[in-house]
Amino acid sequence: MRFLTSPLTLASSLLLALAAPAAAAPSSSPMSDLAPRAGKIAPKVMVISMFTPEREVWIEPMQLVVNYTIPGLSPLFPYIACNKAHEVCIVTTGEAEINAASTIMAVTLSTKFDFTSTYWLVAGIAGINPYHGTLGTAAFARFSVQVGLEYELDARQMPSNWTTGYWALGSSQPGELPDTSDLYGTEVFELNTNLLQRAMIVTKHLTLNDSTTAAAYRKKFDYAPANLAPKVTQCDVLTSDVYFAGTLLAEGFGNYTDLVTKGKGTYCTTAQEDNATLEAMVRAHKAKLVDYSRIIVLRTASDFDRAPPGNVTAYDAFEAAQGGFEPAIENLVVVGKPLVEHIIKYWKSIYKAGVAPQSGGAGSFYGDNLGTIRSGPAQARRIRRGLMRR
Ligand SMILES: *[C@@H]1O[C@H](CO)[C@@H](O)[C@H](O)[C@H]1NC(C)=O
Ligand SMILES: *[C@@H]1O[C@H](CO)[C@@H](O)[C@H](O)[C@H]1NC(C)=O
Ligand SMILES: *[C@@H]1O[C@H](CO)[C@@H](O)[C@H](O)[C@H]1NC(C)=O
Ligand SMILES: *[C@@H]1O[C@H](CO)[C@@H](O)[C@H](O)[C@H]1NC(C)=O
Ligand SMILES: *[C@@H]1O[C@H](CO)[C@@H](O)[C@H](O)[C@H]1NC(C)=O
Ligand SMILES: *[C@@H]1O[C@H](CO)[C@@H](O)[C@H](O)[C@H]1NC(C)=O
Repeated sequence: MRFLTSPLTLASSLLLALAAPAAAAPSSSPMSDLAPRAGKIAPKVMVISMFTPEREVWIEPMQLVVNYTIPGLSPLFPYIACNKAHEVCIVTTGEAEINAASTIMAVTLSTKFDFTSTYWLVAGIAGINPYHGTLGTAAFARFSVQVGLEYELDARQMPSNWTTGYWALGSSQPGELPDTSDLYGTEVFELNTNLLQRAMIVTKHLTLNDSTTAAAYRKKFDYAPANLAPKVTQCDVLTSDVYFAGTLLAEGFGNYTDLVTKGKGTYCTTAQEDNATLEAMVRAHKAKLVDYSRIIVLRTASDFDRAPPGNVTAYDAFEAAQGGFEPAIENLVVVGKPLVEHIIKYWKSIYKAGVAPQSGGAGSFYGDNLGTIRSGPAQARRIRRGLMRR
């Protein structure tokens, strides 16, 4: 099968040379505090999906045939399914932020499982920014940004010199950052960049699935990478309960991403859950139930977030059959399965001990933007003068 080709072996020596497991400063290797809970189901990888197609695509390839029920799962998706060895499991959150946060909080608090060493692969489909990907693109995120958490005026009633009707909570117009005291804390999350780098090495040479409809649709764009075949890339995910479309909202939220990540993030994919999932993970990490440094976010592109050039309206583009849905669903497994298999294969030599995250200092957003799980310089600075103060 396509998944089991050369990149795995090709990549392994490079991988061993990357960041050393877990031995870094205590502030950046919280996994050392975690005490495994004996006698529980302790998966090496938990896939996090959001709705039926994203779940079903994994069941047969990974043989996830053992169902477990725990309190607090989505009524639509009442089972965690695992393979017989309990090495790989899948949970399905239900869609959008409330479902994602509620489900992941329930999962991490479950006494049936021991997640202290588990890797989490958020694997879902998304909208795509044509300047950073195309239909079928598989993107690993470093930042997750919640763009819906803002003030909004309908654009028909906004001040005449504004370019968007959205502006940050606690600020007075678009383009301004709020004071730290006004942050809700979930505006921006940063993941383990060393783990992200490994995921890229394992998967970047894979050939992604495509469809003839998608291949035809992307030709409507006259620029790359929108009009090129899909590949694996690294770029960031937005979270918004509102399923938005069109150039103006996409650009406005792209601008907001630049703002809250201080220019480090790249708005690339848009989905409805990841911030919420990550907030639950931050809290569970704080309670020593999971290791936040073991989270990977993979989003595959099912549709463009805006219309192609020409006179297609935003609405017509939104409604168009773009042909990206099926390859996006398939690419979750095309990319995700080799990664899961890699983690299991190198469990003893690399992954059991963990991959140390980037330093918490030097302006990192690692964890949430309140510094809940950062310690040392980053948090101290936040308290002193506010990480996000302009
Ligand atoms: C597990 O649950 C799914 C529904 O999510 C069901 O279709 C399947 O038959 C169940 N498998 C077993 C072995 O009970
Ligand atoms: C998602 O992340 C964004 C930015 O990172 C944040 O503003 C938003 O509050 C988060 N959403 C949730 C529900 O945590
Ligand atoms: C819009 O105009 C007002 C009044 O002149 C000014 O104070 C404000 O800074 C302008 N805002 C933007 C986003 O240009
Ligand atoms: C995004 O920012 C650019 C550069 O400041 C600006 O020209 C553009 O109008 C903004 N777009 C929106 C929709 O706010
Ligand atoms: C613009 O739209 C009209 C009618 O919807 C269509 O006939 C025309 O070919 C379009 N022009 C371009 C440049 O796409
Ligand atoms: C990807 O496409 C190939 C060829 O169409 C198909 O055989 C394969 O099952 C697809 N992969 C997945 C994960 O669906």
